[in-house]
Amino acid sequence: MQIINSVSALHSIMLEHRSSGKSVGLVPTMGALHEGHLTLVRRSAGENDLTVVSVFVNPTQFNNKADLERYPRNLENDVKLLNEVGCGVVFAPSVADIYSGEELAQPFEFEFGGLDAVMEGRFRPGHFNGVVQIVSKLFRLVQPDRAYFGEKDFQQLAIIRHMTKSLQFDVEIVACPIVREASGLAMSSRNARLTPIQREIAANISKVLFECRTFVPNKSPQELVIWVENQIESIPELRLEYFEIANINTLQTAKSWDEPTVGCIAVFCGEVRLIDVVRCS
Ligand code: PAF
Repeated sequence: MQIINSVSALHSIMLEHRSSGKSVGLVPTMGALHEGHLTLVRRSAGENDLTVVSVFVNPTQFNNKADLERYPRNLENDVKLLNEVGCGVVFAPSVADIYSGEELAQPFEFEFGGLDAVMEGRFRPGHFNGVVQIVSKLFRLVQPDRAYFGEKDFQQLAIIRHMTKSLQFDVEIVACPIVREASGLAMSSRNARLTPIQREIAANISKVLFECRTFVPNKSPQELVIWVENQIESIPELRLEYFEIANINTLQTAKSWDEPTVGCIAVFCGEVRLIDVVRCS
């Protein structure tokens, strides 16, 4: 496994691999890797000759400076984990290697066709512009055949699919199911910031989501939203930011169970913001 810290070194390695006709899988990450990421890497390693994993805490997707500073970083441990799951190249550049001062000073803007106006986009202004900015850069640098993303970030996945189409990248977007802890808590780098007690409390998020599905189709989407809101709000240590039942393609609020839907939630457990998603219909 090679560890690359600069764009120029990545260029020469990718040139070498591509000229020998190898297929390339890309797993973009912000590090602090857990089993969810490793599942993406194993899948990529099984489907491509070479897997590149980027480890880059992308500053342009954080709308909250404190959140960026607190984001867990542990490259040494990430490298150790990646060594065991079939990763060929770890790309861990510095911010200066990826962005010019101008790019950092000026917000990047992308046309999302409305996909960014709901859920995460409503609470994290500019977040998806930053995500598209870094993922499009990584697609240009690595030129992967396939790129792997987790379904936990459901809105991100929809936006990346949209970006891939609209910027005409020849990349297959592979969506991978959420990996959960035994308690049901969706795996996330942010879980590392939860105390053991908070971890137990946070497991209620997925419990409520799984239970809410049992009311489909007897409760309407609107009634189910109220039920989930009440359940989460009855747990004092959790603070609900939103729960939406959305159409899986448009991400707009679902009106009936005749549409394919997902339930998407964002909840604070103490200072830690957690998201989760379940398929409803
Ligand atoms: O999902 C993430 O970890 C990030 O948003 C991504 C896709 C690596 C871009 O920084």
